[in-house]
Amino acid sequence: MSNWPDRRILDLLGIALPILQAPMAGATGSAMAIAVASAGGLGALPCAMLSGDQVRGEIEAFRTACPGKPLNLNFFCHQPPAPDPERDARWKQALKGYYAEVGADFDAPTPVSNRAPFDEQGCLLVEQLRPEVVSFHFGLPHAALLQRVKATGAKVLSSATTVEEALWLEANGCDAIIAMGYEAGGHRGMFLSDDITSQVGTFALVPQIADAVRLPVIAAGGIGDHRGLVAALALGASAVQIGTAYLFCPEAKVSPAHRRALDTAPASDTALTNLFTGRPARGINNRIMRELGPMSELAPRFPLAGGALMPLRAVTDAQGNSDFSNLWSGQALRLGRHMPAEQLTREIASKALAQIKQ
Ligand SMILES: Cc1cc2nc3c(=O)[nH]c(=O)nc-3n(C[C@H](O)[C@H](O)[C@H](O)COP(=O)(O)O)c2cc1C
Repeated sequence: MSNWPDRRILDLLGIALPILQAPMAGATGSAMAIAVASAGGLGALPCAMLSGDQVRGEIEAFRTACPGKPLNLNFFCHQPPAPDPERDARWKQALKGYYAEVGADFDAPTPVSNRAPFDEQGCLLVEQLRPEVVSFHFGLPHAALLQRVKATGAKVLSSATTVEEALWLEANGCDAIIAMGYEAGGHRGMFLSDDITSQVGTFALVPQIADAVRLPVIAAGGIGDHRGLVAALALGASAVQIGTAYLFCPEAKVSPAHRRALDTAPASDTALTNLFTGRPARGINNRIMRELGPMSELAPRFPLAGGALMPLRAVTDAQGNSDFSNLWSGQALRLGRHMPAEQLTREIASKALAQIKQ
């Protein structure tokens, strides 16, 4: 398939279609990356919740299935928080009634939630495994680590949720900017501010970032079908990154409760919440979000808030109950359709191209 009006991302990343599969930690692995890459888009492997050996295994599966295709390895690059036992204790206290209700041991030590930032170990993985693309969430790693990533020849992407963040990423070594609108599912990539009132919707964000930076722009947030792709290109993006729509594909690793919520929730039923990890992320409203409010001052800093929820989830997840589990989703969830990711990718691209040519 050719004749895309803007070839900047296609040429930069070596892909045939201007569609990037969003890396979705916990929800996607090599099966999704293989499906999207097979269609001609960019497959991604989120590494934030994987060990080094797991990353190696996933990459090997991808390389075997898709020889010669580029791959995006995705990392979080947050600053690990300073210990704050008082805040941890206040948060756990706020959950005490739930512990009693589900029969979890309130006095047992609180488990630690695991979302590793990009570090020496991650950098060694990149140096050894040589992904063609490395993307970061929450800004960029320290300059020395970033230089080593760039020295491998990998193209570097990161998300901007404001024009200021896009300018910062351009000045600090990114090769393309993911403009992540407010509609997007999962964690906000925000890193210069933690003020959620600063967050801009995709339709306003994409053209303003495209005007402000020289780098190519990838639109993300609320894009679920060919209409979103056509609109994003019209707004100045060179490609799109799609997350939520891929959660409906059989390659996604979502729990039955999450799948049920995705299948039934109306578009008006998502919110930004910090309850599950400590950072704002968009998910479908559930019981704990309704009862505590989706944003809480009590939640410990990312990624620690999830620890005190683990004993609750250990009981309720097993019952197929999502009262205390994150149900990440963007606002465009009702555009989701159940079809294999390769087919979905091809269909979005071919319908968009047909519409552009009219
Ligand atoms: C379940 C889920 C998990 C996500 N995990 C990550 C992640 O690990 N790394 C990342 O860079 N972005 C992550 N995101 C954000 C996506 O990369 C992307 O920006 C977003 O899904 C685009 O908006 P959409 O969901 O409306 O398509 C996640 C999104 C979802 C829905």
